[in-house]
Amino acid sequence: MEHIRSIEELARWKSEGREKKLGFVPTMGALHEGHLSLVRLSQSKCDRTLVSIYVNPTQFNKAEDLEKYPNTLEEDLRALDAQGCDAVFLPDAAMLYPDGLEARSFDFEGLDRYMEGEGRPGHFEGMATVVTRFFDLIKPDCAIFGEKDYQQLSIIKQVVAKERWPVEIVPAAISREPDGLAMSSRNMRLTAYEREDAAQIFSRLQSAISKLNSQESTPETFETACIKALNAVPTINVEYVRCCDALTLQPLDQFDASRSSRVFAAVQCGKVRLIDNLPLF
Ligand code: PAJ
Repeated sequence: MEHIRSIEELARWKSEGREKKLGFVPTMGALHEGHLSLVRLSQSKCDRTLVSIYVNPTQFNKAEDLEKYPNTLEEDLRALDAQGCDAVFLPDAAMLYPDGLEARSFDFEGLDRYMEGEGRPGHFEGMATVVTRFFDLIKPDCAIFGEKDYQQLSIIKQVVAKERWPVEIVPAAISREPDGLAMSSRNMRLTAYEREDAAQIFSRLQSAISKLNSQESTPETFETACIKALNAVPTINVEYVRCCDALTLQPLDQFDASRSSRVFAAVQCGKVRLIDNLPLF
C-alpha cells in the first residue's frame, strides 16, 4: 500500500493509474470494521481505492473532543494494508488549508437544521470544507460515506449536486456489532456496563419500530415512547430522538408509510455521546 504524504506524491500516484476508476474513502482514523466495510464497497465498485486519514479541526466545535480524538495510526495502516487498499493519504493542515484553518460557508438548504446541526454549530461547514478540498485534490470517481452519519451523507450529496462535483456519492449501510450497537471509534471509551447498555439503543428503537402503527400514532408520541424506553436504561441519557423525512431531513408532522423516513437518535451513554438511525418506512 502506497503512503501519500504530499500533493506531489498524490499527483504522481494519480498519474500512474489515470485510466483506472478511483474510489475514495475519507476517514479520521481509529479505524474499525465499519470503515473497512466502506473500503470493501469501494473495491467492489472501483479499480483503485484511496483512504484518507485526517482529523479535521474545523469540524470540531469542542477543542476537548479534538484533543481526545484517538490516534491508532499504526493499527490503521496495518488494517488497510490487510484489506488490500491501494493507497492511504495522510495530509497535514498546511496541505488542506493553505490559507489557514477556516471553514467555507455553505447553504445546506435546511439539511443541517435539526439533529447534529442543532447541537454542533459549524460542524457540517467544517466537514464539507475538508471533503470538497479532498475532492479537489483527489478528483475521485466515487466517494463512499456511511449511513451511520446519515445527515453528513445527505449534506455531501446536496453539496455535490449543487456545486456539480463530478463524483458519485455511494452510501454504505451501517455496520453493527453482533448485539446491534452501531460500530464507532467512540465505543472503545465505554465501560463494560455502558457497553452492555449501549446495545439497547438499537434494540429499543428497533422494538419501537416493530410495534409502530402509523395510523394510530404520531411522530411525537412515537418519539416520546422511544425517549422513555431509552432513558429507562441505567447509563443512557437521551439528547434527541427525531423522526424525519429521509430526503429533506425535516421532522415529520405525521407518519406516511409511502414516504421514506427514518428515526434518528443521539444519547449520552455514561460520558460517551453515541448516535444511530434506522429506517421507519
Ligand atoms: P469518520 O468518523 O472517521 O468516518 C468515516 C466514514 O466511516 C464516514 O463516512 C462514516 O459514516 C463511516 N462510518 C463510521 N462508522 C460506521 C459504521 N458503523 N457503519 C458504516 N459506516 C461507518 O465521518 C468522518 O470521519 C469525517 O466527518 C470525514 C467524512 C472523514 C470528514 O472529516
